Amino acid sequence: MSTANDATVYELVGGDQGVRQLVRFFYQEMDRQPSAKVIREMHPQSLDESEEKLYWFLSGWMGGPQLYWEKRGHPMLRARHLPFPIGRNEADLWIECFRLALKRHLDSQPAWASTLADTKAARAKLESELLQALQRVALHMMNQPAVANTTTPNISTSDKTVASGNDSALHKDAKTNSPKTTKE
Ligand code: HEM
Repeated sequence: MSTANDATVYELVGGDQGVRQLVRFFYQEMDRQPSAKVIREMHPQSLDESEEKLYWFLSGWMGGPQLYWEKRGHPMLRARHLPFPIGRNEADLWIECFRLALKRHLDSQPAWASTLADTKAARAKLESELLQALQRVALHMMNQPAVANTTTPNISTSDKTVASGNDSALHKDAKTNSPKTTKE
């Protein structure tokens, strides 16, 4: 159990129901954003299973129950993404869908989420730290050469986890380098 000053991201987004809602919003955004078509088309027609698997993964990665490990074992996320051509554009689109979903989720401020980041500063910190940590994972999924793209923000790719390009690094991320944030 964490103290108020040491809440996990899992707690800050509202625990089990919070992660579920966030993931549901994420795939809704992927489904409805015209710009996300290229990544939406990589997924099955029904997003139900994708939603379930991402919910399992994020639950543990955010500091909650390790549902993915219990149900499917080692995530091997990079290996599982190899069948899909993922370049910088695809990684950025994934993050953009998540950013929109997180905003909707935090805006919704459901009554059940007593631990949800509830001050402006705490919310900004949660959004920034969570998106940065997810971006490192998304960049690690890249399996296509970077192409110069002046329309996307130029975010550094020099992170060691990304540069290492192996699954043990992600394994470490998933188990120990989950995002940490504190309530203001
Ligand atoms: C970088 C852009 C990404 C693209 C284009 C992408 C695309 C995909 C696709 C097409 C699938 C297969 C659909 C399915 O199994 O239902 C998948 C599965 C999955 N993705 Fe991603 N993904 C990306 C990033 C991420 C990130 C950043 C995470 C985690 C934070 C993630 C977590 C997962 C998980 C847990 C699965 C299910 C793996 C399995 O058990 O089969 N993905 N992704």
